[in-house]
Order: sequence, then structure tokens, then C-alpha cells
Amino acid sequence: MSPKPAKDVAAMMSARHVAIIMDGNGRWAKRRGMPRSVGHQAGVNALKRTVEAAPQLGIEWLTVFGFSTENWRRPASEVSELMGLLKAYVKSDLARLEREGVRVRIIGRRDGLPADILAIIDDAEARTARNDRFNLQVAFNYGGRADITDAAVRFAADVAAGRIGPGGHLEAEFGRYLSTAAGPPPDLIVRTSGEQRLSNFLLWEAAYAEFVFQDILWPDYGPDALRAAVQEYMSRERRYGGVDADDVLAPG
Ligand code: FPP
Repeated sequence: MSPKPAKDVAAMMSARHVAIIMDGNGRWAKRRGMPRSVGHQAGVNALKRTVEAAPQLGIEWLTVFGFSTENWRRPASEVSELMGLLKAYVKSDLARLEREGVRVRIIGRRDGLPADILAIIDDAEARTARNDRFNLQVAFNYGGRADITDAAVRFAADVAAGRIGPGGHLEAEFGRYLSTAAGPPPDLIVRTSGEQRLSNFLLWEAAYAEFVFQDILWPDYGPDALRAAVQEYMSRERRYGGVDADDVLAPG
């Protein structure tokens, strides 16, 4: 058998799906004596730089945590600022994302989101639905527990109706009910700002992800930091609960 082409090796090595907890906007602004809103705005620019850099690093899926189900606890002005930023981001970048073959998906609970945000989400998803060069998932009004709970309710209904029966691969079946079902699980989860928590992000999907915590505030993020995270990921050895092939004794 001929050796695998280099392209396959590169695909195996690089993190196919990177998920990012974009943390530190508030601290970035505070250090500059500016309001938190300025930090969030700078965070959108960092997001733009990161989305642009990701495909060049061999990344095929990028999932970012834009607004969590817990973020409703922030002051109303900050909540509406974050809603406004999603709107502004889609408005300013959708045409380019559409042209460049990026498929956009917004994951998370639709319930509770204002009508104008829902319209923006539907438009972004519909206009990019045929794209397949790169996948951008924005977790918005997303929480891992909420997503698992919502999936469990629909899963239970399908079990009760006999649409899912015993004997199937129930774990894989269940995964199809999550809002992340369209893509592979994340290979790498990055959190910026030095915090080392998952904060209810991709709880189910993180089962075998590698974690990289970077001591950089999100508004300062960009291609170099993303490359460093992917390089760190590539230096890790993933075993998925098995053992390293070199550690298995040959029989006899
Ligand atoms: C964490 O910083 C960041 C967020 C809660 C939201 C992330 C949002 C953006 C990057 C803006 C763009 C969003 C979209 C959806 C386009 P923090 O406010 O918790 O920072 P702190 O921990 O320093 O206070």
C-alpha cells in the first residue's frame, strides 16, 4: 500500500473543529479606562480576524461562544449591546462570508430571543446554507445544559412514540438531537483571558476535546494566537480512552 498522501496527514494533525470561549472583553476595556461596551466592540474585530485566519490553518469548523443562557443575568444595557453586536456583525460581514463559501449556523435556544435577532439568524443561515468551504457556528443564547435538556425532551418523545427503539447506538442517536448535530465534535476548545473553566459550553461535545487556555484577552486575539493554540493541540497525543499503539505488546 502506498503511503498516505501528505494532505491526509495534515488533515489528521490539524484541529478540524476549534471552539472558542471568547473571554476578557470587559477586562480589556477596564484596563484602558473604557466602558465594557468598547471591549465587546473590540471583541467583534477579534472575531473577524479569527474567522479569516481559521481556514488558513486547516480548520474546517469554528464555534464561538457569543452569548450564553447565563448572560441574561448581565445588566439589560449590556445584554442589548451583545444582541446589537450580533446584528451588526451579521450585517457587516454576511455578504463576505456568503461569497467566501462560509456556512453560518447559530446554535442555542431560539426561545426568548427578540424577533429582529431571530430574523437576522434565519437570514444568515438561509443565505449560506449551500456553502461548504468553512463552517462558522455562533453559540448564541446557548448553554450546554439547556441544549442537552432540550435534546432529551425531544429524544424522549421520539422514544415514547417508538421512533427510536432499543438496539440502536443510543449515544450517537442522542447526539443528533443537539444543536451541534450538523458538525463533528470539537477537537480543540480554547479559552482566552487566563480563566480555566468550561462555563457550560459544549458539555456533551467536549468529551474528547483538548483544552488550551491562553493568557490573552479576547480583543487582542488574532491569527498568531490561533496558530499558537493549534500548534499546542498538535503537540498533544489523543487516545480517546484507548492506549498508544506503541504501548501495545505484540502477541507471541
Ligand atoms: C466575555 O467577555 C465575552 C462575552 C460574554 C461575549 C463575547 C462577545 C463578543 C466577542 C462580541 C461578539 C459577539 C457576537 C455574537 C458577534 P467578558 O465580558 O466576560 O469579559 P470579562 O470577563 O473580562 O468581564
